[in-house]
Amino acid sequence: MPSNPFATITPQIAPSILSADFSKLGAEIDEVFGAGADFLHLDVMDGHFVPNISFGPPIVASVRKSHPNAYLDAHLMISEPLRYAPAMVKAGANNVTFHIEVAADPVGVAMEIRKLGCHVGITLNPATPVEAIFPALDHVDVVLVMSVVPGFSGQKFMPEVLSKCETIKKRLRPDQRLEIDGGIKPDNIRQAKDAGVDWFVVASAIFDQTDRAGAIAQLRKALA
Ligand code: DX5
Ligand code: ZN
Repeated sequence: MPSNPFATITPQIAPSILSADFSKLGAEIDEVFGAGADFLHLDVMDGHFVPNISFGPPIVASVRKSHPNAYLDAHLMISEPLRYAPAMVKAGANNVTFHIEVAADPVGVAMEIRKLGCHVGITLNPATPVEAIFPALDHVDVVLVMSVVPGFSGQKFMPEVLSKCETIKKRLRPDQRLEIDGGIKPDNIRQAKDAGVDWFVVASAIFDQTDRAGAIAQLRKALA
């Protein structure tokens, strides 16, 4: 069984492989787990919902095969989440997060994803009002707050989303988790934790560093 990040309330650091070197992905993942990463964040992009294309189920399946015990958190930046969620779960995703901006019936989407036997997450772009996700909150395991406009790693953190984190955290049950994604670095991760965030997605501040263990240690130090 993959390690389960819901089993703890300790802050979790989730490297996003979007900034990894895909020519040696397995070694990159080994390195970040060896350096103390908790689970992996997989950024799936369709070139339609966001202006970039990343990867799909075949890569998720390869990661699952090479890392059978890793918890895989799939962030679907795609226009048709229900069309691809079954393939993502079959490939090995443990959590599937969809965007509220593409869900006319977010409760229905969450329920359909849950039926696949995985955890369910909902996420919202920086420009989307926090109230948009309120009706779906009871039906998800994770809320992901985007702290950059999705599409690319290496963008600047948008501190204005911190008030959204505070608002959402107040409405979550103890078994639900709040996640943040975009521009997280040692100098802002503490602010996010103080706003209620449990899980921290980090791409460039880990994978763009030569010393990945040092990078994760710095993030943990800022959280302590
Ligand atoms: C943004 C993605 C993020 C991104 C984070 O579209 O959802 O997961 O890779 O990258 P950094 O940590 O570099 O902002
Ligand atoms: Zn992401």
